[in-house]
Amino acid sequence: MPASQCFDVVIIGSGAAGMTAALHLATSHKVALLSKASLNEGSTRWAQGGIATVVDPEDSLAAHIEDTLVAGAGLCHQDAVELVVNNSRQSIQWLIDQGVPFTPAEMTQSTEHSESSSPLSYHLTREGGHSFRRILHADDATGLAISETLTARVRQHTNICVFENYLAIDLITRHKLGLAGQACVGVYALDIKQDKVQTLAAKAVILATGGASKVYLYTSNPDGSSGDGIAMAWRAGCPVANMEFNQFHPTCLYHPSAKSFLISEALRGEGARLTLPNGEPFMQRFDSRCELAPRDIVARAIDHEMKRLGLDHVCLDISHQGADFIRGHFPTIYQRCLALGIDITKEPMPVVPAAHYTCGGIVTNHQGQTNIAGLYAIGECAFTGLHGANRMASNSLLECIVYGRLAAEDLLAKLPSFKAPPELTVWDESQVTDSDEDVVISHNWDEIRRFMWDYVGIVRTDKRLERAQHRIKLLQSEIHDYYANYRISSDLLELRNLATVAELIIRSAQLRKESRGLHYTLDYPKTTPEARDTLLVPDCW
Ligand code: FAD
Ligand code: SIN
Repeated sequence: MPASQCFDVVIIGSGAAGMTAALHLATSHKVALLSKASLNEGSTRWAQGGIATVVDPEDSLAAHIEDTLVAGAGLCHQDAVELVVNNSRQSIQWLIDQGVPFTPAEMTQSTEHSESSSPLSYHLTREGGHSFRRILHADDATGLAISETLTARVRQHTNICVFENYLAIDLITRHKLGLAGQACVGVYALDIKQDKVQTLAAKAVILATGGASKVYLYTSNPDGSSGDGIAMAWRAGCPVANMEFNQFHPTCLYHPSAKSFLISEALRGEGARLTLPNGEPFMQRFDSRCELAPRDIVARAIDHEMKRLGLDHVCLDISHQGADFIRGHFPTIYQRCLALGIDITKEPMPVVPAAHYTCGGIVTNHQGQTNIAGLYAIGECAFTGLHGANRMASNSLLECIVYGRLAAEDLLAKLPSFKAPPELTVWDESQVTDSDEDVVISHNWDEIRRFMWDYVGIVRTDKRLERAQHRIKLLQSEIHDYYANYRISSDLLELRNLATVAELIIRSAQLRKESRGLHYTLDYPKTTPEARDTLLVPDCW
């Protein structure tokens, strides 16, 4: 039976990466843009601190490259770092041209140091690992500004067909259809509102599905960060790399009513101090860069102090900067904390680390291509080599914009030679029934996220990883059974993906017999002289 709809390119995910690729491709091609929620509901809209680029005359591309390499603890791919940094100005100019309202230098000139203004006339902040002020931002809600601007552009575009509340289930490859070759030719997606599976055919597919931090109990990420793209690519036959490097952001608000609320690193860039609840600073005991050390170091220091003293949080204090400065620079954080009864102009905030970013992902080249013809991966779901063992702050949005464009440019050059997709078989539901045991799904969701936090978190050991491996095997067989016998739902699909990603993280962590960047294990506390990626290749080849 023919596929219901056919496009030049199907893009799965409408964050910074997916929307950038869509807008570049739609100049001449018909694009389907899928989001499992509304268009602006990924991690992108929650980004606070900003996007890194070199504009300060004292700064240099070489310094941005060097800082990224240092933060990445010897595991960054130098060519990827150079590619992204060298493309950063152009990418930010593209965002400005789209209408992203970055905070201008003038607005804060009266309260700022002179080095804050730049030739581009935008205000620059500083974050951990950066040796200069080089973060463009839109107050403390940069992601929202980017997301709203690109969403408006996407909605205006007649060549972009938007599919909101469509959850991609699996990629369709020629291999899976029993045809010669491996090319990706479409996707099955659950229309969540109609509760119906649709088949979308395409000459090429781009995965832009974001990260997998929801695999941990405590996370700064929105609910949708369940690693769907990584799991789909793995099932389709793509290798993944460095999945053990899960970044924990040092400072998420610790408050019973503040699920997932991040306190931007930009506060530390503006002088906020980390203290114990008694007011004593502690970062100087861990790193000479103190609060502006790379994130892995700061998160581990906080974890260490919390465990040493039996604390449920530490504190972050910016009150010395004065009320006008704080309200002017961090209006979102100020308002959110005030609504929860914390006046950050007068008192410290209680903070804890939480899972924040997936440094590993689907292996891609400099054009975002995977090993499967016609399949690309961009943004947080991809492994490009940029982040190494620890992503430097504000390099992620940059990676999304750079690779969103590079993948689109590669496709624009190649699409004329791509064949039309073959006829695709429709989704077969004849063998499944309605589930009467949905509690299994919610129970397994909770169990995975809890043991990943306890056993595969900031500090690991062989024993903890073994325990996690044992549990994930049991859960995967239960989930597989459930998937094979019952009608699908979005919760079940995300659970299946979460379990796959958890397994990939555990396996990768077990393979790394050293501590490096975000992977810290008590059994191998030293860093080995040779830096190697952890590559996992699916069995299907
Ligand atoms: P996302 O923005 O996460 O978008 C993923 C998209 O994929 C969504 O549209 C989602 O609906 C869709 N999707 C997922 N699975 C499916 C499926 N199965 N079917 C259909 N659609 C699917 N980085 C910085 O550089 N600077 C910052 O200041 C910064 N601050 C951050 C603050 C927070 C609180 C968080 C959570 C992250 C922050 N990051 C920051 C990281 C950065 O925001 C993300 O890495 C980046 O936005 C990821 O963009 P993306 O396009 O890859 O994915
Ligand atoms: C933040 O604002 O602290 C987040 C920055 C990032 O994740 O890059």
